[in-house]
Amino acid sequence: VSPRSLILAAVLLHAVAAAPPPARTITWQEAAPAHGRLGAAGITPQSFPAFIDRIARTNARRVREGDLDHLVFYLLQSTTFTKLPPIEPALSARTFAGTGEVPLDVRARVRALLSAVRSGGGDARLSYFRAIVRALLPAGNAAEGALLQEYGRAMKFLYEKEFVAQKSDRRAADIAELYRTRGLSTDTAVEAGFLVREGLAVLHAVAPEFRVRRVLIVGPGLDLAPRTGLIDARPPESYQPWTVIDALLSIGLARSDDLQVVCADINPRVVEHIRRAAAKPPRLTFAPEIQETATVSLTADFRAYVADLGKAIGNPVQPSIARAVTAERLDIVTQRLAARDFDLAIATNILPYFDDMELLLALSNIAAMLAPRGVFLHNEPRPAMEEVSRTVGLTLEQARTAIVANVRGAPPLVDSVFVHRKPGG
Ligand SMILES: C[S@@+](CC[C@H](N)C(=O)[O-])C[C@H]1O[C@@H](n2cnc3c(N)ncnc32)[C@H](O)[C@@H]1O
Repeated sequence: VSPRSLILAAVLLHAVAAAPPPARTITWQEAAPAHGRLGAAGITPQSFPAFIDRIARTNARRVREGDLDHLVFYLLQSTTFTKLPPIEPALSARTFAGTGEVPLDVRARVRALLSAVRSGGGDARLSYFRAIVRALLPAGNAAEGALLQEYGRAMKFLYEKEFVAQKSDRRAADIAELYRTRGLSTDTAVEAGFLVREGLAVLHAVAPEFRVRRVLIVGPGLDLAPRTGLIDARPPESYQPWTVIDALLSIGLARSDDLQVVCADINPRVVEHIRRAAAKPPRLTFAPEIQETATVSLTADFRAYVADLGKAIGNPVQPSIARAVTAERLDIVTQRLAARDFDLAIATNILPYFDDMELLLALSNIAAMLAPRGVFLHNEPRPAMEEVSRTVGLTLEQARTAIVANVRGAPPLVDSVFVHRKPGG
C-alpha cells in the first residue's frame, strides 16, 4: 500500500465521518409515545412499517403536487416570461368552477410558459420552474395537456378554500381539513419570523442562562410563487434560516462562532437551495409579503421587526455565519435524524399539513431530537396540540399572540408562538 493511497484513504474516511448521518425511517419502538393512538387505529407492531410507508408515499405525492401548485400560481401571475396580463388565481378558480372549462387566457399563458421554458434564459425564478417542468411534466407536446390538468387540480382546491369553505358555518375547521390533504406548499415569507423572534425574546427574558448552540429548523420553505401577490423582482429565497440566526444573535441567545443550524425539509428543492445559499451567502430582500393598501396597515411592531432584519447577520449574509447552516432531506412524520442534541427546534406553518396522527408522529420525532431542556417553538394553534405535546413530553411554557396587520372592516392578521420544553438536564 503506497503512502499516497493511505493518505487518500484517510481523507475519504474523514469525509465519511464528517458527513452527518442521513434521515432514517422510524421504528415501532421509536414511535412509543404514539402507541396508544396507533393501537386505537388498529395499527400493530407488524403493520406499522406498511403504515409508515403509506404516509411516506402519500407525502412524496404531496411534495410533487405542492411544486405543481406553485408552477400554476407562477404561470398565472408572473410578468417576466410573457406580456399577457397576469391572472388572479382565486378569480380564475371561480371562472373554472363555473364553466368547467379552462379559460382562454389561461391556455394562452400555459403556452407562453412552456415556450419560455423551452427557449432557455430568464431569471432565477424561471430557472426553478424550468427544473420543475422538466422533472414533473411529460416531455414534448404532452406537457401542455398535463399542465392544464394540474391547473384544474390546483383551481379545485383554491375554489374549495376561497369560496366553498368561506361560506361554511365551520369555516376554520373546513379550511384546516383541506390543508391536511393538499399539496405541500413551500411558501414562506419574512412574516413567519416575527413571532419566532417574539418567542425567542420571551425565552431569553424568562431563562437568561439558556444558550442555543444547535438549532433544527423543520420545513424552512422556499418562496417560489405564492398563491397571490407574486413579486417577480426578487429571486426565490428561503428566509427562515437567516431570520432565526439574526434573532438568536441579536437577542443574545447564541454566539456566531458557536452556532449550527440544521434545516430539514421534505422537499429536495428547498434542501438544495439552502445548501447553495450556505456556500454562496445571499443578499436578502427583507420585504413583507403582506402589501399595505387603503384597508391593510402593518403594525408598528411588525414594521420595526422588518426594519431591523439582517442587522446581526449582515446583508449579504456574512460567510462565517452562512457556514453555520446545513440542510438535510427529512420527512418529519416518518423519519428522524440520529442527532439528539438540538437545543432548539422550530416548526412554523408546517404542522397544519398533518392530520392528528401525523402531528403526533412529527412531534415525537422532534422531541426525540431535542437535548434535555431543549426548546420546541411553533405557531400551530389547533386544540389537538395540547394533548399531543403532552403525550410526547413537551411541556408548554409560554404562548404569545401578536397583530401583524390591521384590516379595516375585517379581523386583524395575527400570528401566535408557543414555546415548549423537554424535561431533564
Ligand atoms: C408552508 S412552508 C413554511 C415555511 C416556513 N417554515 C415558514 O413558516 O415560512 C412548509 C414547509 O414544510 C415542508 N414540509 C412539509 N411537510 C413536511 C414533512 N413531512 N417533513 C419535512 N418538511 C415538510 C415543506 O416542504 C415546506 O418547505
